[in-house]
Amino acid sequence: MRTNIVAGNWKMNLNFEEADELINNIVEFLENETLENVGVIVCPPAVYLELATDQAQDNDLFVGAQNMSNHESGAYTGEISGRMLASMGVNYCIIGHSERRKYFNENHEMLAEKVNMALKNDISPIFCCGEVLPEREAGKHFEVVKKQLEESLFHLQPGDFSNVVIAYEPVWAIGTGVTATPEQAQEMHAFIRKLLVDKYGHDLADETTILYGGSCNAKNAKELFANPDVDGGLIGGASLKSDEFISIIQSF
Ligand code: PGA
Repeated sequence: MRTNIVAGNWKMNLNFEEADELINNIVEFLENETLENVGVIVCPPAVYLELATDQAQDNDLFVGAQNMSNHESGAYTGEISGRMLASMGVNYCIIGHSERRKYFNENHEMLAEKVNMALKNDISPIFCCGEVLPEREAGKHFEVVKKQLEESLFHLQPGDFSNVVIAYEPVWAIGTGVTATPEQAQEMHAFIRKLLVDKYGHDLADETTILYGGSCNAKNAKELFANPDVDGGLIGGASLKSDEFISIIQSF
């Protein structure tokens, strides 16, 4: 059975004390609660990763980075390599987030390299895909998502997929307060799973976790997660407050 996941993408938010408090609250919750088939991941800014991995030692919390270099090592000022992240105990890395595609010009090829670099270092990519509003309005959303997956993920061998998480994040829903309806989310998730079936077969597709992201919060999480192909969420704004993030975890 595939794992459900709730992952918090903090983006570029919180100072050190706020980050510390948020992680503490999540850890305290996890230590007092037995969760049935839900993995919890926090993806803080890189400067707080050590804080997070330190606190995630003796409990069920997993830690993800928000980005990693597509290069192995060397003269890339400001960049952070997969090897560095792995050596800090980081388990996951968000790759292909629409903000990085848009503001940092990350293209399909670079994202494929990042996916490879993550896997090479035993870090599981949380690979994001999703269409912008004009693409949805033009009825091109399935085509767009298919291309994103084909160009940056479907070069992988079947064995790699046990370490891959896919996140469908319609760009028009990210940070806007406009959530995809449960029907829209389910429709796209089922489509992605069908692509996995066609390329890799039923068993692999059944085992792959597909998250929804985009204005998912404590109010709508239950309805979204109730869909058969929605295996949890990649949560931005609503992951910054422990009460709300915890209530999303409890939506399963
Ligand atoms: P949001 O962001 O929940 O604030 O819409 C989700 C994301 O970008 O991962």
